[in-house]
Amino acid sequence: MPRDTILTGHVLSFDADPLRGPATGASDCARLSEAVLIRDGRVAATGALADLRARAPGATLRRHDGHLICAGFIDAHAHYPQTAIIASWGKRLIDWLNDYTFPEEMRLCDPEYAARIAERYFDLTLSHGTTTTVSFCTSHPASVDAFFTAARARGLRAAAGKTCMDRNAPADLCDSAQSAHDDSAALLARWHGVDRLSYVITPRFAPTSSAAQLDALGALWAAHPDCLMQTHLSEQTEEIAWVKRLFPKARDYLDVYESHGLLGERALFGHAIHLAPRETARLAESGAALVHCPTSNSFIGSGLFDIDQRLAEGQRIGLATDTGGGSSFSMLRTMAAAYEIAQLTGTALHPAQLLWLATGAGAAALHMQGHIGNIAPGMEADIVILDLASTPAIAQRHARADDIWEAIFPTIMMGDDRAIRAVLVAGEPVPSA
Ligand code: GUN
Ligand code: ZN
Repeated sequence: MPRDTILTGHVLSFDADPLRGPATGASDCARLSEAVLIRDGRVAATGALADLRARAPGATLRRHDGHLICAGFIDAHAHYPQTAIIASWGKRLIDWLNDYTFPEEMRLCDPEYAARIAERYFDLTLSHGTTTTVSFCTSHPASVDAFFTAARARGLRAAAGKTCMDRNAPADLCDSAQSAHDDSAALLARWHGVDRLSYVITPRFAPTSSAAQLDALGALWAAHPDCLMQTHLSEQTEEIAWVKRLFPKARDYLDVYESHGLLGERALFGHAIHLAPRETARLAESGAALVHCPTSNSFIGSGLFDIDQRLAEGQRIGLATDTGGGSSFSMLRTMAAAYEIAQLTGTALHPAQLLWLATGAGAAALHMQGHIGNIAPGMEADIVILDLASTPAIAQRHARADDIWEAIFPTIMMGDDRAIRAVLVAGEPVPSA
């Protein structure tokens, strides 16, 4: 007997990418249905409730009428080890790393502490409707085991890797070119493709890796081309100047990665704010993804990601919290920040575009669009159900809405974990979310 569930509500699906066209046409890419049928953990169909009941008469019916049912959120760049130091005051990137981040990351050398933080991280992200995260771990292999163990226990599709760094960081966090390669290879062999988990080759960023380490990780990626590779690119101006001093022969920051075999269509570049024309051209050519981290970019004072320009160049773009450089675990808050930053560069992103950034666009950036990021037949049923009137402030604005997009937008701009009515992971309700 198949296990069937039908959810009713405003079921949001996308038939096309709403970012590839004007905001005014974005809603044409979206489709709203009355119900979704989930069979054995996957979306079987969307449509009218009567039709789905006829197709699956034994299905369990869960009514969420008036609420929005959409694909679970995808956070394409996060640092789970920084969970406990989120919202740390008063620093720009390099000082923030040295004063807050590295001391906390050192604590994850204790596997029990790492396990505790991983549990806390997934409790928090799931309670905010995020069903897939792509995370940096620390340089300790046990921190990778902690992440994947916790994700696997929850049945999540999740991706992460050991953060590699062999210089410009405390000795206790530094590996070497050889050990970064060997530890990453061993973790990749242990976790990549296990259940819904993916290993991500993870040099932290150019300033904390020697050329030899970047070479070693480039070679590892060449040996495992189906893996993602994640790092940071051009986040702050001081960082870019530092990279220039460390790699004087490189044409620019991106060239450091490219010249060590770390550019390709499965690359994820966090931030990517301050880019030269040569870099944007190479990024677009390579098919790599840029990961927009809007709360982080404001919080650490990094700069404005020009999403309109990047889309015009045809870049692949994901959206992310960048916790704990970002100031929130919430992808709703992150969508709101993306909206506000885009407004500063003259673009009003449509609610459909914002929701796509947090779902389908992220899935495409991760090359997981065949599995997650949309409510369509065959997709894994990672689903978030949003209460569109979750607080008095949102409810009173929602009451004035003339159409579904006006009904959704106040929750994007003002919603938090109180808006998360339910979360399903592979069709199963998450108990505490
Ligand atoms: N660049 C290198 N490491 C980090 C990090 O942990 N967070 C952010 N935001 N940028 C980085
Ligand atoms: Zn980051």
